Order: sequence, then C-alpha cells, then structure tokens
Amino acid sequence: MIEHFAIAIDGPSGAGKSSLARRAAAHFGLIYVDTGAIYRCVGLAAKRAGINTRDAQAVQAILPSLDIRMLYNVTGEQRMYLGDEDVSSDIRLPEISICASNVSAHPAVRAYLLEMQRKMAREHNVIMDGRDIGTVVLPDAELKIFLTASAEARAQRRMLELQGKGIDTTFEDVLKDIELRDYQDTHRAEAPLRQAEDAVLLDTTEFNFDESFGLLCQIIRERLGLIG
Ligand code: DC
Repeated sequence: MIEHFAIAIDGPSGAGKSSLARRAAAHFGLIYVDTGAIYRCVGLAAKRAGINTRDAQAVQAILPSLDIRMLYNVTGEQRMYLGDEDVSSDIRLPEISICASNVSAHPAVRAYLLEMQRKMAREHNVIMDGRDIGTVVLPDAELKIFLTASAEARAQRRMLELQGKGIDTTFEDVLKDIELRDYQDTHRAEAPLRQAEDAVLLDTTEFNFDESFGLLCQIIRERLGLIG
C-alpha cells in the first residue's frame, strides 16, 4: 500500500463529486478537499464588494485583501471562512455559483489559489475535487478520476439537493445554470475542465448514489490497494 498519495477527482458541476468524495474520504480515512468552495469564497467576496466578477482586473485587485481560510472541524468537515466569518452556507447560494465560475476563469485567481491546494496535498492524504486537479493542481496524483453524468441527470440531482435545503428553484433554471457553467468551465483559456489522459472515467448517469459510491470505492481499492 502506498503511504502518501492523492486522489484527484475532476468533472462538471453536479456530477456528484463532492458527495461521493466526502463519503469516500470518511470511508478510507482521507482528508476531503473541496476546491470549488475556495473559488466560491472569491466569488462571494467579489460580489459583496460590488465588483463585476467577469472583470479580471477588478477581481485581481481584491485578491491581496482576501483572507480565505479552510478549516476542518472535529468531524472532518471542511468549513470556509472569510476572515473570522464562516461563509460555508453563503457560498452555496445559487447566485454565487456563477460568480465562482466567472472568477475562476481569471488566471490571477487560479494562480492565487494554487499553493493553498497543493499545500493540503503535501500535508495530508487527500481526495481533492475540482476541475483541474488532475491536469494542473496535482498532475502527479496517484489516482485521477473524471466523474461525469449527463447534464439532465446532474440538473435533476442538483434541483433535489437545493429543494432539500429549502431553496426554491425549477428544473429548467438549474439545467440552464449547469449548461452555462459547463460551457464556461470547459471553454476558458486557463486550466479548462478536461479529462486528464491518465484519468479513469466514471459516468454516473445510470447509477444512483450508492451504486456510484460502490464503483468509486472499487476503483480506489484496485488502483491504490486501500482496504475498505
Ligand atoms: O465545484 P463547484 O461547483 O463548487 O465550483 C464552483 C466553480 O468554481 C465552478 O463553476 C468552476 C470553478 N472551479 C474551478 O475552476 N476549478 C476548481 N478546481 C474548482 C472549481
């Protein structure tokens, strides 16, 4: 069994990366790093500052003043702070999703957040999810997985998740948001979302959560020799 390793999971919005990676981390005793949450913090801070999140220069200008902290509570849950404020819930608001996608297209933002992500992987055995983990952040990750599902399946799941949190939304709105973010995330010049050549493809369109989790665990066991 390898002693220090990283598992990189990339894929489009709503493919189930976070839920699956979080559960796999608990199952195998790894640290789960949700990198989208970090981009969401930048998106939230820019929105609060009244900045147009598509304006690269304006967003770059606020970066030095941001105090983004990623902390883990006793149950291993990742919490995001801007200074002393816990923004873990605010960053999940639907209007912040597109702000996060907008700011993530700016090279200065990506460069600014790179070291924070790599440091986590140096210090822990991580399962890290995002869009460019296997291609840019951790190109030497011992295991790379590209997790995807059809846009319709992803919209359906995301809608149920949002409604479960009491956020009022429709399938059409969620699908539109997912398609727009897919387009932006795959077409940006800097670190676009794409499957790394050495990544294992896991398409969960036809599978429910438990089935997808079983497949993910099987890949992890086979590739890394982990027990569980
Ligand atoms: O995973 P998420 O939906 O919370 O991510 C929010 C946005 O952040 C997403 O639209 C693209 C961006 N992102 C990114 O560009 N690179 C990452 N590693 C993670 C997220």
